[in-house]
Amino acid sequence: MASTQICLIGLLSVSFFVACLAADSNNILDFCVADIYSHVFVNGAPCKDPKTAHADDFYFTGLDKQGNFSNPMGSKATPVYVQQIPGLNTLGLSMVRVDFAPDGLNPPHTHPRASEIMTVLEGTLEVGFIGTAPDYRHFSKILNKGDVFVFPMGLLHYQRNVGKANAVAIAALNSQNPGTSSIAPALFTSKPVLNDEIISKTFLFDKKNVAILRSKFN
Ligand SMILES: *[C@@H]1O[C@H](CO)[C@@H](O)[C@H](O)[C@H]1NC(C)=O
Repeated sequence: MASTQICLIGLLSVSFFVACLAADSNNILDFCVADIYSHVFVNGAPCKDPKTAHADDFYFTGLDKQGNFSNPMGSKATPVYVQQIPGLNTLGLSMVRVDFAPDGLNPPHTHPRASEIMTVLEGTLEVGFIGTAPDYRHFSKILNKGDVFVFPMGLLHYQRNVGKANAVAIAALNSQNPGTSSIAPALFTSKPVLNDEIISKTFLFDKKNVAILRSKFN
């Protein structure tokens, strides 16, 4: 990406002047491989000595393998974030493979730090995202092999396998560490737990049902 340049052109009494401010808007190093042993806390990770960088810092293997979706949701995400590839540090980029059993659901969740672009490799997925208040518009599509869909940053979204066979999708995300907050686990498995009053009022249902719902997520 080009550097940012802001120019001011002015006329000051009889003289004409042009003043420019220039700054890098992107990385100023070839790479900044995460130093996973550092005890320094910064936004991202400190770079390890570039002289010690090697090809494996930019490499991951295993995304051809099916994730184990033997769980109540029938889906499994296999992330390839900066934790898996330290060379992704500062690059604003990552990817994920998601596997689905028939009827499998990747339940409503958000990535607070990334938009996501997903393509279906096998199967048929019903996908969608929900815009913010007050309209909460719902944008949904049925995707087949080769179809691509975008989930804008921070918005709630989901994917569900509506085909008869397993499905698999690959997505790219514009953060080295997109973060995931899945609605149900966030509300029912937080540590410490949310007060039953809060859950019951949020969903407008009787407090005695909160324990039943919570027990299903533990
Ligand atoms: C898949 O996950 C289930 C549930 O956690 C587990 O019982 C099973 O052994 C796992 N299968 C493989 C192949 O790892």
